[in-house]
Amino acid sequence: MTWALVPAAGSGRRFGGEVPKQYLQAAGKPLIEHALEALLAHPAVDGVVVALAEGDTRWPGWTQLHGKPVIACIGGGERADSVLAALHALPAGVADDELLLVHDAARPNLRDSDVTALIEAEKACNDGAILAAPVRDTLKRVDDANRIAGTESRDGLWRALTPQAFRRYLLQRALETARADGVAVTDEAMAVERLGLRPALVEGREDNLKVTTPADLALAEFLLANAT
Ligand code: CTP
Ligand code: MG
Repeated sequence: MTWALVPAAGSGRRFGGEVPKQYLQAAGKPLIEHALEALLAHPAVDGVVVALAEGDTRWPGWTQLHGKPVIACIGGGERADSVLAALHALPAGVADDELLLVHDAARPNLRDSDVTALIEAEKACNDGAILAAPVRDTLKRVDDANRIAGTESRDGLWRALTPQAFRRYLLQRALETARADGVAVTDEAMAVERLGLRPALVEGREDNLKVTTPADLALAEFLLANAT
């Protein structure tokens, strides 16, 4: 049994408008619907828990999609708080050592082949696994006046994507430890790394983009409308 946890309580403040970005439309559906459908379309995924912002009036109230259960809960102030809330909302039948996939609501273009590759990688690594893509641009460090202070090596640097795959007990321990330590983790792997563990990294598709800016939305629209 594999469940997905989908943090969807963010504000999408970089868009400026009042619609949280997970509810922006691309190719005829809100981003969150694309993300949920991509997860649930995979045969290994049995259900999803979605963490929503308190007072979210846009959530359509799905209780199932693709014939699989969808559970909604209230998320928290940081992404990690939303994922912890989703963990607590898992149904009773999900065991402690079951595999969980954490996936951003703002990543609408997830493909089956990446989910399969991630699940395979996790089987081979006790510390979990994440999808990632290599850094391709040259990296600059700037000073306060936006003058270039130096060039960083991009050797061995990757961008962490989602889904990220961990056993339930490991994810919960990692996120609770980070919270107790007052550390804001920006992905689940970072919380697990803080325990001294080393999750596996598997190269994923670069078109599994996180929609952060209007330019990303235009690209997502193009990708989703042209998906084969
Ligand atoms: N998220 C969440 N709870 C939070 C913050 C973020 O569930 N307190 C979710 C977002 O809804 C999104 C994912 O985590 O699906 C990744 O976050 P990010 O891309 O940073 O989204 P936002 O916080 O919504 O956007 P921004 O940072 O641009 O305001
Ligand atoms: Mg954010």
